[in-house]
Amino acid sequence: MNLIGTKNLYTQRLLLRRFTLNDAQSMFENYCHDEDICKYLTWNPHKDIDETKELLTDVFTKYNDTTYRWAITLLDNPDKGVIGSIDMVKLDVENGVAEFGYCVSKEFWNKGIMTEAYKTVIEFFFNELKGLKVESCFQIGNFASEQVMIKCGLKKSGRREEATLPLKNKKVIIQYYYIDKITFVNNNY
Ligand SMILES: CC(C)(COP(=O)(O)OP(=O)(O)OC[C@H]1O[C@@H](n2cnc3c(N)ncnc32)[C@H](O)[C@@H]1OP(=O)(O)O)[C@@H](O)C(=O)NCCC(=O)NCCS
Repeated sequence: MNLIGTKNLYTQRLLLRRFTLNDAQSMFENYCHDEDICKYLTWNPHKDIDETKELLTDVFTKYNDTTYRWAITLLDNPDKGVIGSIDMVKLDVENGVAEFGYCVSKEFWNKGIMTEAYKTVIEFFFNELKGLKVESCFQIGNFASEQVMIKCGLKKSGRREEATLPLKNKKVIIQYYYIDKITFVNNNY
């Protein structure tokens, strides 16, 4: 793979960029506090902004060439700050396989934001990072997330597993979707 690190990515409406320590306020207000956002996620809503600051300091601003994590911001409203994120949650460099997860503020649901963002990240993964396969998974019942995967060209995989969410002390069923490089090239989106 060509591991060049997280770069700025532009879409029609969005700038996907690296997180900075200044993002805590908007992240907390826009989505990190919200229990509806976390319903199908591994983490729990942040109780206060200090939790968001800690996440930024300890994890989200620590980038290297195998870290791919984008803050989603609006080109026509940069003052709104960070409205969501797309993260590469797993990377298998040897086989060129990566798994991505995502979330966006409830205020912006069903406007095509995540489809627009994820398509661009997938293009970056295949074209720039020279990866071979993208995967994502959702908890059964998370129809919006499944729709995003389908609209981005991913197909249902045979991989359906039970998973434990340690922070929630909960067992769930997750379904994987995937797209490989050949399909991506043939789809030519
Ligand atoms: C999943 C999520 C990222 C989608 O973001 P988004 O910007 O609203 O996604 P898009 O607008 O690009 O697409 C959403 C699609 O889901 C559909 N959808 C939404 N709710 C739905 C439901 N209850 N049943 C069926 N389809 C649904 C929308 O109609 C839309 O499809 P369409 O454009 O074909 O009409 C957002 O809902 C979110 O952040 N959820 C909380 C975090 C999360 O669950 N992340 C995914 C973890 S796997």
